[in-house]
Amino acid sequence: MENQEQQVVSMPRIGDPAPEFKAVTTQGDINFPADYKGKWSILFSHPADFTPVCTSEFMTFAHLEKQFNAANCELIGLSIDGLYSHIAWLRTIKEKIEYKGMKDIEVTFPLIEDIKMDVAKKYGMIQPNEDSTKAVRAVFFIDPKGIIRTIIYYPLSLGRNFDELYRVLLALKTADEFGIATPADWRPGDDVIIGPAGSCGTAQERMDDSNIDCKDWFFCTKKLDKDEVLSKVLSK
Ligand code: BEZ
Repeated sequence: MENQEQQVVSMPRIGDPAPEFKAVTTQGDINFPADYKGKWSILFSHPADFTPVCTSEFMTFAHLEKQFNAANCELIGLSIDGLYSHIAWLRTIKEKIEYKGMKDIEVTFPLIEDIKMDVAKKYGMIQPNEDSTKAVRAVFFIDPKGIIRTIIYYPLSLGRNFDELYRVLLALKTADEFGIATPADWRPGDDVIIGPAGSCGTAQERMDDSNIDCKDWFFCTKKLDKDEVLSKVLSK
């Protein structure tokens, strides 16, 4: 019972400030989230260095890093391995591993060493019924003010979908920028959701607006141009 309570207490939630920590990484020391103020960041954990699913994920994330950076988002990895293991693994990836057309992949984003599990525990990345000595595949999206905006957890056996992580980033930024919500499977260029009309006047305006499609009083969508979305969300 005591263990269960401790786990619940240490699970950050959407809307919480990202728990603070200082750590050693493959790119030097970081002070999180202070060092990332003004930027989006994705803090993600993986179970262990020198494992195949993690290797496929790191290669894919490193391959896509510039795309995330162009959306003002930095990547930060973590596992419960030491710095020298991280360095050796990343060197092996660069020198030896070819996967799905990706080769000579250099991981230039920081990978945190967390041998004592200090950070992993703060972020609820240790889920003992899955594994008590490895972090699960957690993904935290943190906004420029240091607030956790989305959390996704995957088990050890399931490699992440990085298109989906990019889609989540763009959807969060679009919702902030345009004051809308995004429907199932939304991608830039698709219609977005607007809130219910507040008065008879606005309800009538909506009915007259050819950009707005109300399927019922509680479910209205409007067109939002792909270029307008991308120019706004990729610029900040
Ligand atoms: C992997 O990354 O391949 C892996 C790591 C831990 C458990 C299972 C798979």
